[in-house]
Amino acid sequence: MKTSYETVHRRSLEEPESFWAEAAEALHWDRKWDRVLDVSGGQFVRWFRGGRLNTCYNAVDRHVENGRAEQAALIYDSPVTGVVRRISYRELQREVSRFAGALRSAGLEKGDRLIVYMPMIPEAAIAMLACARIGVVHSVVFGGFASQELAIRIDDARPKAIVTASCGIEVQQVIPYKPLLDAAIDLAEHKPSVCVVLQRPQARASLQPGRDRDWEEMAAAADPVDCLPLEATDPLYILYTSGTTGKPKGVVRDNGGHAVALSWSLHNIYDVQPGDVFWAASDIGWAVGHSYTVYGPLMHGCASVLYEGKPVGTPDAGAFWRVVSQHGVNVLFTAPTAFRAIKKEDPEGEHLKDHDISCLRTLFLAGERLDPDTFHWAGGLLGVPVIDHWWQTESGWPMAANCMGLSPHPLKAGSAGKPVPGYDIQVLDGEGRVLGPGEEGLIAVTLPLPPGCLPTLWNDDRRFLESYLSRFPGYYFTADGGFKDEEGYLFVMGRVDDVINVAGHRFSTGRMEEVVSGHPDVAECAVVGARDELKGQIPMGFVVLKAGVERQGEAIEAEIIQEVRKDIGAVASFKKALLVKRLPKTRSGKVLRRTLRDLADGRDYAIPSTIDDPAILGEIEDALQAY
Ligand code: COA
Ligand code: AMP
Repeated sequence: MKTSYETVHRRSLEEPESFWAEAAEALHWDRKWDRVLDVSGGQFVRWFRGGRLNTCYNAVDRHVENGRAEQAALIYDSPVTGVVRRISYRELQREVSRFAGALRSAGLEKGDRLIVYMPMIPEAAIAMLACARIGVVHSVVFGGFASQELAIRIDDARPKAIVTASCGIEVQQVIPYKPLLDAAIDLAEHKPSVCVVLQRPQARASLQPGRDRDWEEMAAAADPVDCLPLEATDPLYILYTSGTTGKPKGVVRDNGGHAVALSWSLHNIYDVQPGDVFWAASDIGWAVGHSYTVYGPLMHGCASVLYEGKPVGTPDAGAFWRVVSQHGVNVLFTAPTAFRAIKKEDPEGEHLKDHDISCLRTLFLAGERLDPDTFHWAGGLLGVPVIDHWWQTESGWPMAANCMGLSPHPLKAGSAGKPVPGYDIQVLDGEGRVLGPGEEGLIAVTLPLPPGCLPTLWNDDRRFLESYLSRFPGYYFTADGGFKDEEGYLFVMGRVDDVINVAGHRFSTGRMEEVVSGHPDVAECAVVGARDELKGQIPMGFVVLKAGVERQGEAIEAEIIQEVRKDIGAVASFKKALLVKRLPKTRSGKVLRRTLRDLADGRDYAIPSTIDDPAILGEIEDALQAY
């Protein structure tokens, strides 16, 4: 019988130290911790202080030594290249230890940073694990980000090395990565001393002598190296995520808390056992890819599917069912937008008839709100529980879910489930008062955060405090809004800041505004997230031109769209730039973004009492209609 969720949740909050110490027993420690929870640093809380372990050892070598050497660790499935490759734990150990040796011989030491800018190929995971093996701090940058975004991250992380591939493949389009990387290094102030390039046959990259090295040659020449025991509190990686300003936040993840939280979650939230096949269909550039394509499933001795393809178009809307059936996937985790894309192309689920997916036990969805339509459609089609669960890059693992490894509770459409053990989630009003059932407000987590959550932001303790801990003393502020119902189910309704969620990807509208404002004809602009049936939200720019600009509006709009694509990346899906005469503002000059959002969505709106000139709203409605 499964343990009661309520009992476990209560215990995790009442006795956090013994609770997490027990969970930590699932891992191999080179040295036990001195303190499970160290609060001596005030707001900077650390888990497992004094403990030593190696994340790569726990994710790879341990399984080779304990009877899983020949079991698949990674299953690389790439419909865009026609390759399927099964990598056993033994092979993974060989490749990771060799690449770690190559990094060492290139001069990388514990504490150095290394950026991974790669598509969804096994070498991306190998590079991450190789860093973990020797204490190099990796920072994976999503391959869809353009040079300028990469440059911003290079300057913040100051990596000694960057690992890339010659190209990525988007459905049928080959995208050379190396020119993007070269441009980013030109733009950045900091220059890495070495770039390692994996040459793919679809497009080979030219290498810059002295700086660039060929992956294959380096790995072939290297001696394998062993895992280095690290402090539990040493950083494992930095993952940049969008904040409300143009500068992304470098979320830091430590080794000990991360390993404990992920291995606990695999068993208790996802209800998977060692040997099961787990597939998180997310790019490794996002938090889901870090936690549930690479580290989590490997830490738990599962086989993890690494998929280089899309839910539709590679080649059709049956792609997910083919992968599930071919590799015996037991648990699938993706974003609701992927299911909306499948539903749009194959509403009756005709493709499912071609595949036996009886191996699939559960579908988990996250990254954006799971709308009730998609929840019902997916459940009806697959006949397995469809679990919405809520988390953020900052937490690194779910904060609310239906814990399938504990006693699950009945599903409710529209809810992300109940607080996961370790998280005491409260809904607050603007003054920090706890709201009651059904009252919508701001979602916060009582401190201390459980293991695995960010201990700070890279090189920016102050921003960590200001962004998350200052607004409501005693709480971590999530910047999401929502409510809890009478039974304690959490409903997450969306961000309350200027972060938007496009196809499960997080973007800063502030960053897009920076790019749009950089156009020479633009006087001012506002970018908001407009509702989109497929992607949940897409950005929409409202743009005011400088007085006297007489060029054709359409040409300027096209240039602005191209600028965002060039500076941030096509993945931002910035395709709408609407020229307006003025922006709606308060009398004190603040842009009324919420009203702009309502206008973009065609929703009824109340005229804000603070508005400077209500006539502007009519002008914008007209412009939207004409667009
Ligand atoms: N490298 C280069 N370009 C990329 C890229 C990458 N890694 N990833 C996406 N892009 C480009 C796409 O080619 C597309 O370009 P286009 O405007 O020229 O067509 C643009 O960025 C938008 O891409 P995408 O968001 O993938 O939209 P899409 O319309 O091609 O596909 C979905 C829509 C819903 C199928 C797709 O967004 C999807 O699979 N989403 C799931 C997201 C996910 O797993 N999120 C997990 C986070 S938990
Ligand atoms: P990211 O940091 O990219 O994972 O994005 C985190 C944000 O995605 C959260 O702050 C939410 O706004 C949104 N999000 C993630 N999962 C869910 C969910 N299950 N329901 C609602 N919103 C979600």
